[in-house]
Amino acid sequence: MTDQYAKATAAADHIRTHTPLQPALGIILGSGLGNFASQVEQAVTIPYAEIPHFPQSTVAGHSGKLILGTIAGVPVAVMQGRVHAYEGYSMEQVTFPARVLGLLGVRKLLVTNAAGGINPRYGQGAIVAISDHINLTGTNAALGPNEPRFAVAPGAGQRFFDMSAAYSPALRKLAIDEAARQGWMLNEGVYLAVLGPSYETPAEIRAFRTLGADLVGMSTVHEVIAARHMGIEVLGLSVVTNMAAGVLDQPINHEEVMEIGRRIEGQFTHLLTALIPQL
Ligand code: HPA
Repeated sequence: MTDQYAKATAAADHIRTHTPLQPALGIILGSGLGNFASQVEQAVTIPYAEIPHFPQSTVAGHSGKLILGTIAGVPVAVMQGRVHAYEGYSMEQVTFPARVLGLLGVRKLLVTNAAGGINPRYGQGAIVAISDHINLTGTNAALGPNEPRFAVAPGAGQRFFDMSAAYSPALRKLAIDEAARQGWMLNEGVYLAVLGPSYETPAEIRAFRTLGADLVGMSTVHEVIAARHMGIEVLGLSVVTNMAAGVLDQPINHEEVMEIGRRIEGQFTHLLTALIPQL
C-alpha cells in the first residue's frame, strides 16, 4: 500500500458519511471478545468491506465491523475484529484501522486481545492489564516513510518516538482501581508479541519467560506502536485464554481461545462499561 495517509483519509471521510459522531475512544476487540460491541448505544455499524482500503480479517472469531455510537455516554468507535501480520498483511494494512481511528478523532485507545499465559500466577480466563510489551514479530508498525500528518497530539508524528510509557500508567491505574471496586484483582503483565500463526514451542515459552514476558500473543503491538506514533494514549487488556505452550501438559487450540472469551464476557463487559466513562 502506498500513501497510507491519503487512503486513511478516504476511509475516515467515508465513515463520516454514515454518522456525525466524533469518537473520543477507540476500542479494538480481540479474539472471542467481539460480543462487547453489543454494548454500543445508538450504534451505526459499517462492515469493513464497505470502507475504502480497510483490510478484511480472515480469522474465525473476527467478524469485521466498525461500530460507532456511545457507551455510558462516551462517543466510541469499536472495531469488532482486527487483522494480523500472520494473515499476510503488510504493516501499513495492520495499522490502517488504528490510523483511521486517529483521523476520526480518537485520542485514547483500548486494545484487547486473547493471549497465552506465561506467568503461572495467571489462571485460564484471567484478565490482565498490559504494562509493557516486547515486540518479537521482527517488524515494526512505523516501518516505511514517516508520516507526520498522523499526529493528533503536540510533538507526535516523529520519525523516532518514545515508547517508555506506551501503555498509559494513568489509564492502567483506573482499570486496576475499577476491578478492585468490583471485587477482583486486575494483574499487570508484559505482553510479548510473536508473528504467528503457529503457537509457540515449550522451549520458546521458557525463553520468553526468561526475557520477562508474562503473556504471549500475535497482535496488539503494531496497533500500539502506531497509536503512540500518533500521540494516542493506550490501555491494553489481555484475556488469558490458555496457558502458554508447555506450562500445562496439553495442546493449545483456537476453539478454546474462543470459548474462554465467551466465558469471561460478563466480567469483561462489567469492567469496561464502568471504566469507559472514567478514561
Ligand atoms: N500464543 C500466542 N497467541 C495466543 C495464545 C498463545 O498461547 N493464546 C491466544 N493467543
